[in-house]
Amino acid sequence: MFDLSAAAATLSPAVTGTLPQPDFVQLHHEDRAAVRAELMAGLLAPQAFTSPKYLYDALGSRLFEAITELPEYYPTRTEASIFKAHATAMAALIPDNATLVDLGAGNCAKAASLFAAFAPARYVAVDISVEFLRQALGSLQAQHPSLPMLGVGMDFSSSLQLPPQAGNGPNVLFYPGSSIGNFTPVQALEFLRQARSACIGGGLLLGVDLLKPRELLEPAYDDALGVTSAFNRNLLPHLNQLVGSDFLLADWQHAAFFNAAESRIEMHLQAMRDVQVRWPGGERRFGQGERIHTESSYKWRATDFEQLLQSAGFVSTQAWTDERGWFAVFWAAG
Ligand code: AVJ
Repeated sequence: MFDLSAAAATLSPAVTGTLPQPDFVQLHHEDRAAVRAELMAGLLAPQAFTSPKYLYDALGSRLFEAITELPEYYPTRTEASIFKAHATAMAALIPDNATLVDLGAGNCAKAASLFAAFAPARYVAVDISVEFLRQALGSLQAQHPSLPMLGVGMDFSSSLQLPPQAGNGPNVLFYPGSSIGNFTPVQALEFLRQARSACIGGGLLLGVDLLKPRELLEPAYDDALGVTSAFNRNLLPHLNQLVGSDFLLADWQHAAFFNAAESRIEMHLQAMRDVQVRWPGGERRFGQGERIHTESSYKWRATDFEQLLQSAGFVSTQAWTDERGWFAVFWAAG
């Protein structure tokens, strides 16, 4: 007699009608009191500052997506053109049975556009919140039913220790978008050292925005339409929600400039008049013109970044760039 269950086992899930589901693990648990304490300490520092991660609430994430479409904001489309031109060359460096580990996956679109070329054996999407990943991975899984997928909620900026569910590789760590630019050089070195231990037998593929004249850098962070200003100023209502402060949007303007000594774009919120800000358990006066430093975005020389990879212990590296030399994608073999 014909064994239906054995036949069904050989059919793809799409044919049997059951779709494979991605797995999820949440490692990071946000501690509201710790977030408040961290933010208050930054607001009270002589030079007030906040971590750039607080720019990305629900609206901030959508404003960032809008930034990537601005004519002045060259990094996203330049990086995409590099991947498009060199995906086959990159794929040749990736081992057959690789797990593609997407660091800061968001909507997973960049990694998904490389599935065909890279043909990974497994896809692990990492982001701060597993909730962000549920929808993206759910629909991606339907399009790629035979690719095992895992969503991991963790803060990889503090530690890159992947959970056992991510398997034992070989891992190809995918870190596009030049997010490494938010790290100081010292932090970037530490991150790359951790990346190296997490990608033995595989490698690291990451995007790096390159040093270029101030005249090209500054408009990318201070666009004519004012989207980056909105992205930066949107931090204030988010702070009001997180620390219970009473920042008024009308008191603050966007400021972005290239700090050549540090080779970084700095974004600040600048007080337009003397303001007094209060929150439960604290307050601060900001004089007119005083600033809160909200983000640094380091710009690297390709040769210096190459050196940084070597210092982190990577021996074999290579880079692809666009014809203008504005952006680079680096491969560092694990
Ligand atoms: C997401 C950190 C790469 O630094 O260019 C864009 C964020 N800030 N405009 C960058 C950002 C202002 C972006 N990164």
